[in-house]
Amino acid sequence: MPPSVKRFLTPVAIVAAGLAMIGALVAVSGVVSVRASSGHWAITRWFLSFSMARSVSTDSLDVTVPETLDDPAMILRGAGHYQTGCYACHGNPTTPHPRVAAAMLPPPPYLPDVTAQWEPEELFTIVKHGVKMAGMPAWPTEARDAREDEVWAVVAFLRAFPGLSESEYRELVWGDLEEGRAALSAAGIERAHVQTCVRCHGVDGNGRGAGAFPLLAGQSREYLAASLRAYASGGRPSGMMEPIAAELTAAEVDALAEYFAAQTPRPSEPRSPDGQAIARGALIAREGVPARHVPSCIDCHGPGKAVENEEYPRLAGQPAWYLVTQLELFASGARAGTERANLMHEVADTLTEDQMADVAAYYAAVPAE
Ligand code: HEC
Ligand code: HEC
Ligand code: HEC
Repeated sequence: MPPSVKRFLTPVAIVAAGLAMIGALVAVSGVVSVRASSGHWAITRWFLSFSMARSVSTDSLDVTVPETLDDPAMILRGAGHYQTGCYACHGNPTTPHPRVAAAMLPPPPYLPDVTAQWEPEELFTIVKHGVKMAGMPAWPTEARDAREDEVWAVVAFLRAFPGLSESEYRELVWGDLEEGRAALSAAGIERAHVQTCVRCHGVDGNGRGAGAFPLLAGQSREYLAASLRAYASGGRPSGMMEPIAAELTAAEVDALAEYFAAQTPRPSEPRSPDGQAIARGALIAREGVPARHVPSCIDCHGPGKAVENEEYPRLAGQPAWYLVTQLELFASGARAGTERANLMHEVADTLTEDQMADVAAYYAAVPAE
């Protein structure tokens, strides 16, 4: 290093070391308060929210907004999760500022008051990654990159939220909760927060219309229970189902699986019947794709045959988006967590995107059995 540079750097290094020492002393002395009760100075508050907005904006540069944000199924799915994962901090039209959360620093805002300030891709970034040192959690599954579809469903709901009245909100988020509670109590499932499965899956396990949720009605007990255990272990990634499944006792898993398996599936209504896609999908389901060594789906999944093994799910009547999403999760290896998931990794890995869409269109159009 030339001597002139050295002469310049030495005092800089001494000053930096001095400042670090003072910083350390201040921290050790405990005079910097971490009390949430003491609030922030106005300048600190401004600096924190300015840097948060800048960070969110930069993180959102490469985010692409899907075209489906007004889809009622996405809004319904996002609304369901809002009650599980957001309400306790961000409130609802009846209680916009829950008391405990209002004592946080910063206090979580009532979202209908603030969402207009954010672009959809910024809301996505906030909900996916959370906000450090503010108490705003990241999306609650470790495989967040694999479940961006779920984050978008919440963004779809956040955009619809400001226009909702108290009763519209209640209908969207709670559905037929009272009827569902009575039915689940009769089936021996007593804990109130566990009974809330019916908010999303419907009292009879056929979902809440609009194809927002997978059907549970008519699946086998074995498959339903294995799925709940897979979510609870984190092996099957879903920020919507993992927190719910992780709270269930083993006895509740069995009782819930038995309850939903005993419900009668309702015939499905295909949402956008594309006859040609359905015909191509039917061929794949029946014969597989011999050129790519994809086996027939029907032997394991029906319809029209007794499903060979109780741990194999029925696919008939499931919403197309759900089937495609699950095939993508298998193909990327993100969905695991059961003894049989490996059977699907190879199948899904060899299907092209178009083939996934076709076979999903077919199964979505077959009446659930
Ligand atoms: C444990 C409490 C908590 C939970 C649960 C929570 N948040 Fe937050 N959230 C916060 C806090 C605190 C902030 C304020 C962050 C800030 O201002 O720096 C925040 C900020 C936000 C913001 C930015 C709003 C603004 O203008 O500052 C959005 C959007 C948001 N949260 C959405 C959600 C959604 C959607 C969920 C559920 C998936 C959720 N939050 C769950 C505490 C929470
Ligand atoms: C907030 C809405 C919501 C609630 C409440 C909810 N679920 Fe779910 N459930 C979903 C969504 C969304 C999926 C699809 C998740 C995925 O993509 O893996 C799902 C998937 C499932 C699956 C897997 C279905 C399949 O075909 O593999 C089972 C089983 C299940 N839920 C059971 C339950 C039970 C039991 C409860 C109550 C203890 C419950 N769910 C509560 C939204 C919900
Ligand atoms: C050898 C039997 C077998 C074959 C063949 C098979 N699957 Fe599967 N599939 C399974 C099993 C087992 C699971 C459940 C795995 C788990 O839960 O971990 C599953 C799960 C699925 C799921 C997720 C269902 C849900 O409710 O979440 C979809 C979608 C699926 N398969 C599509 C297909 C398609 C499309 C084909 C044909 C191209 C196919 N499968 C061929 C055994 C098979």
